[in-house]
Amino acid sequence: LPSYKDFVGNLYNYRGCWYYPNAIQGVLNFERGFKPQKTDIILASYPKSGATWLKALTIALFERLKNNSSDELHPLQSHNPHRIVPVLEIGLYLKTSTPDLTKFSTPRVFSTHMPFHTLQLPLKDSPCKIVYVCRNVKDVLVSLWYFRCVQLQKKVDMEPLFESLCEGVGFFGPFWEHVLSYWRGSLEYPKQVLFMRYEEMKSEPSAQVKRLAEFLGCPFTEEEEEGSVDKILELCSLRNLSGLEINKSGKTLNKVPYSAFFRKGEVGDFKNHLTPEMENKIDMIIQEKYKGSGLNF
Ligand code: A3P
Repeated sequence: LPSYKDFVGNLYNYRGCWYYPNAIQGVLNFERGFKPQKTDIILASYPKSGATWLKALTIALFERLKNNSSDELHPLQSHNPHRIVPVLEIGLYLKTSTPDLTKFSTPRVFSTHMPFHTLQLPLKDSPCKIVYVCRNVKDVLVSLWYFRCVQLQKKVDMEPLFESLCEGVGFFGPFWEHVLSYWRGSLEYPKQVLFMRYEEMKSEPSAQVKRLAEFLGCPFTEEEEEGSVDKILELCSLRNLSGLEINKSGKTLNKVPYSAFFRKGEVGDFKNHLTPEMENKIDMIIQEKYKGSGLNF
């Protein structure tokens, strides 16, 4: 796709999903080397759908069960959520099929952008839990664009990214099939796959964090301190996380500043960026792709 190749770079397709070259090696390493434990948790998403938030919430949910002394720093205060919950294919398994996983305590929490069917291969006979966070594709597009501008360190035109998203060619795309793969997974294996929506996490955060806790096997109990849910929501809020020193100054392995993972965190920011034509085109694709699936946006 020469018109936007310069924008997205060389991509390769593996099992129906587009990857940049070394990410494929990461996927293969993962497929070959990953040995699931039945308590493993995998947080899955299409890029820019809310993984940072989901990771922070999951970390905070399990952390509250530990009896740490009050003067100990919470892991979210000393580490970025992506450092604590690495991406399998472009982090842990990028260069090796036998990464050192001994530093992970139980439950081990990982993340991924692989579609469900690829992820499922090594997990086939394991009751690992998968949480998928889905976000309105129009906001995903805007968020991707901002992120891409930070990566390239210049403001670039959104049009090529828009075209590539519509065509389904982009990192970890097509977006449409990515979402559908987990949606169907959640219907087929409801005890193993939880399908969450960024928009619902924003509109009813307490209910969604309780739902997440329940699914992960660490529900809030009656004995638990009052305000426990609110404390977690505040700790994991964009305002709080983005203000922490670690997230203001640190960088990922690929040298992306952690601060780039925190922007507006709003629902509907696309209204400030997409033309009516762009919206129409996306709406038509949504209608066609999700017809009969029970999934709506
Ligand atoms: P915007 O660019 O629309 O602001 P990901 O974490 O999957 O990379 O997604 C990044 C998007 O999630 C960004 O969206 C970012 O601002 C938003 N985000 C990051 N942390 C968040 C948080 N704690 N709460 C809500 N949204 C958050």
